[in-house]
Amino acid sequence: MGLKTLLGIKKHQWKKSVKKFIDKIKTAFPQYPWNDFYRISEHFLCRESSSLPERAFLFRLSHDLQANAKIVEIGSWIGESSCLLAWGLKGNGAKLYAVDNFKGEASDPSARTRYQERMYRLKIDNIKESFDKNIAHFNLSSQVEAIVADSLAAAKAFREPAHSIDLLFIDGDHSEDATRNDIIAWLPFLKHGGIIVFHDFSSNHGVPQAIWWAVKQSYFSELIGVYGTMIAFEVC
Ligand SMILES: C[S@@+](CC[C@H](N)C(=O)[O-])C[C@H]1O[C@@H](n2cnc3c(N)ncnc32)[C@H](O)[C@@H]1O
Repeated sequence: MGLKTLLGIKKHQWKKSVKKFIDKIKTAFPQYPWNDFYRISEHFLCRESSSLPERAFLFRLSHDLQANAKIVEIGSWIGESSCLLAWGLKGNGAKLYAVDNFKGEASDPSARTRYQERMYRLKIDNIKESFDKNIAHFNLSSQVEAIVADSLAAAKAFREPAHSIDLLFIDGDHSEDATRNDIIAWLPFLKHGGIIVFHDFSSNHGVPQAIWWAVKQSYFSELIGVYGTMIAFEVC
């Protein structure tokens, strides 16, 4: 069987499973534009960084935000989660800040190797260029502002005032120290009652330990939802 036929079969199977997923989620949450979710998922087919339930959760969270909301995303990679989050933004003042060094770097050497392998497999020479193309593909360039920097440096130079961000998505360096430092650096920008979302909370990286530390500091007031390895809290 040729590669083209194999890819055709894969795409056919993918379409069937996504349609099945959307039929189900449409029943539970009819108020969201699931056809747009399908389009974004299709665009990133074979390059996705998270599962369908995880992506649908992000999509819903951003659609639930008020007009002119602001989102900070730590770890944007080629922009799939950025597109899902930015799609729900409404109002001229709405913005998604996409913070990434766009080098596929991380403190853990095995994570760095994984990024390099992924770049090779997906034929990505320049992560930032891919990110820009994907954001432009969905006409989101005016809502999305990339901040090309390490997360902590970006937090130090961030121009938005304290307590002005509605949603913070942490999906950058997954070591325990880095995740904890991301929480410490970015939490002061979140509104009281804002939402913090983590990816990979049940992974064997340091993310769960950092979240547990934050829970013990009483930073979070409520658990908003858990989908796959995505977890969201309301902050105090
Ligand atoms: C798992 S990927 C993000 C995937 C993306 N959120 C998605 O779902 O499409 C992690 C990203 O974090 C970035 N990253 C790692 N450490 C970082 C740091 N200290 N500061 C900023 N970005 C970082 C990497 O370059 C990589 O693009």
